[in-house]
Amino acid sequence: MNALAEARRILAAAERVVAVTGAGLSAESGIPTFRGPEGLWRQYRPEQLATPEAFTGDPLLVWEWYYWRRERISQCVPNPGHIALAEFEARQGPNGFTVVTQNVDGLHGSAGSRQVLAIHGDIWITRCTCCSYQFRDRKMDGTFVPLCPECEAPLRPGVVWFGEDLPHLVWDGAVRAVNRAQVLLVIGTSSVVYPAAGLTGLAKNQNTRVIEINLVPTPASPLADIVLTGQSGVILPELLKK
Ligand code: OAD
Repeated sequence: MNALAEARRILAAAERVVAVTGAGLSAESGIPTFRGPEGLWRQYRPEQLATPEAFTGDPLLVWEWYYWRRERISQCVPNPGHIALAEFEARQGPNGFTVVTQNVDGLHGSAGSRQVLAIHGDIWITRCTCCSYQFRDRKMDGTFVPLCPECEAPLRPGVVWFGEDLPHLVWDGAVRAVNRAQVLLVIGTSSVVYPAAGLTGLAKNQNTRVIEINLVPTPASPLADIVLTGQSGVILPELLKK
């Protein structure tokens, strides 16, 4: 049996499945990944744009970068990989499938996925640096740092930056979902950013079957039962079709 057929057989027998997704899943929608030859971190330095210190030092620069990314993302639509995952969720039924995504683009939701844990936040959310005020909108430009209407502190993008904790409830939900799953799909992530990358090891420790989909080998590959090499927008529709 070839790897794809074996992966389909494993999935058919699974009641609970989790997919951990990364920037590679959205690459075919036109959203740049972070690492690799065309990656954002080749052009920009994370410590100047994606840390609490960067925001304190130059909040307008950080906002401008996030507005630029919002603008870029707003031009993109879900690709066949996102859609295959949403259709799979509909067939698996309630609690049968959870997406744990590192992506902040919102494309899983646009594709129709409902059980989505966005562990690195949501680029469309703006939240207060001081109080609990937050909102979600589609604003894509600005020449000043927005201030909180409740407490006048600066507002910031609702994403997780380097050096910050993940949102606790969302992360706990991700761990619970992986603990209950029989199969973990690891899709389009370089598996180098923790704690997200640690979900693969967590799954392996309890004999959950791991299927990785990526263009290249990653640190997760040696842990995977099956590695499917290629574009997620091509492989997922084949893997998850009825
Ligand atoms: P990366 O940019 O690190 O990795 C993208 C992965 O997707 C690479 O392993 C590529 O080989 C793979 N890839 C690219 N195109 C693909 C395709 N069409 N099909 C399948 N695989 C493809 O992105 P992430 O792993 O998501 O964090 O990065 C993790 C985190 O690092 C991000 O959430 C972000 C970043 O810094 C924060 O901002 C906190």
